[in-house]
Amino acid sequence: MSLSEARPSTATRPNDLEAYWMPFTANRAFKKAPRLITRAKDMYYYAADGHAVLDAAAGLWCCNAGHNRDPIVAAIKRQAEELDYAPAFQFAHPNAFELASRVAALAPGDLDHVFFCNSGSEAVDTALKIALAYHHARGEGARTRLIGRERGYHGVGFGGISVGGIANNRKFFGSLLAGVDHLPHTYNRDTQAFTKGEPEWGAHLADDLERIAVLHDPSTIAAVIVEPMAGSTGVLPPPKGYLQRLRAVCDKYGILLILDEVITGFGRLGFAFAAERYGVVPDIITFAKGITSGTVPMGGAIVRAPVYDAFMRGPEHVIELFHGYTYSAHPLACAAGLATLDLYREERLFERAGALEPKFADAAMTLRGLPGVLDIRTVGLVAGIDLASKPDGFGKRAYAAMEKAFHEHGIMIRVTGDTVALSPPLIVSENEIGEIFGRVGRVIEAVR
Ligand SMILES: Cc1ncc(COP(=O)(O)O)c(C=O)c1O
Repeated sequence: MSLSEARPSTATRPNDLEAYWMPFTANRAFKKAPRLITRAKDMYYYAADGHAVLDAAAGLWCCNAGHNRDPIVAAIKRQAEELDYAPAFQFAHPNAFELASRVAALAPGDLDHVFFCNSGSEAVDTALKIALAYHHARGEGARTRLIGRERGYHGVGFGGISVGGIANNRKFFGSLLAGVDHLPHTYNRDTQAFTKGEPEWGAHLADDLERIAVLHDPSTIAAVIVEPMAGSTGVLPPPKGYLQRLRAVCDKYGILLILDEVITGFGRLGFAFAAERYGVVPDIITFAKGITSGTVPMGGAIVRAPVYDAFMRGPEHVIELFHGYTYSAHPLACAAGLATLDLYREERLFERAGALEPKFADAAMTLRGLPGVLDIRTVGLVAGIDLASKPDGFGKRAYAAMEKAFHEHGIMIRVTGDTVALSPPLIVSENEIGEIFGRVGRVIEAVR
């Protein structure tokens, strides 16, 4: 069938949900009872039938400034009228430099060069490739091993799933990258249950890097990548002192430390980056999501000065890093990013998240004792609530909770396995925090 023949048949079936293969979605269940969103403003989504849905997930951990904020919308419109696209290779547009400077200024220490891409997955691949090429440039090309962590999520590229530690994201996709090892995850319910903030127990788990380094020999290890707070696996804040210990072992052996801040960046934990909260300066930070408050796809890697400098050698007409994307630093993304950073600053949203953290944590803990609640973890404006799995299927209870939340209780929650993850936009009010946990409590009762 030609394309022109195909079009009318689609047009006569405007509500046909079949063609779209939805990502990370139970397609058949969704298409039976779709959760369709048509509009958003500030803290709310509006479903296709018009009912308001309180956004307790910042979309997908990304709309940190809230939805459809006027200054961001205006900046995107202006940019679309002025410059649609400029080639990212060998040419550029001014806002790319402006945004890189602004992002670098938010990052701690000498993290002062920014490589742009379009998603968290690309940011992770970029960071891993920079790490490998960095060692190569310094004459340590034998450093090829990458170390991730169990329960880590670093997107869906082959690099990201290789260093990631979630079985379902790995097991269908072949042998992945060679030479990858994993640290143990940091969760232990016996010692950590119902902790607000960073758990006391678990810093020693960072010392496993020492064992891995000795096993493979440090001279073969390029980088370690971890999320400061593991988000997608169900909200695991780092144990007190854990990241500092990881940094120390990396320093001892010349291993680069990559903090994947795709979720934690741009205020989620009360700081521009979690690195600042934990007083750790990694060699590379990956970011995405909050950089544009979810409005236009964008991601990136921020690198320390010595990493960038290691590449700035050789003849000047030669490309220093053979890596990049057609849409790196896309003009619309840069315009959205600049307007978003302005909004974060003007409304002091990172500080706001920090100030609200104790209230958010207290409100989350009111759900303790509800039927099937096994653990609640909080940090910054994030909460993870583990529900007991139903005997007839892992993930069934949380899936039912998500459906009921959207259709019957007017709230959007994120679920992973049988864990509910909450991460509202940073503009959330104290009343709305109460509303979120009130509604989530009722949802949990409803799926008992
Ligand atoms: C820590 C982390 N890294 C990478 C990614 C992948 O980002 P994207 O879905 O934009 O590729 C995510 C997405 O949630 C993430 O949480």
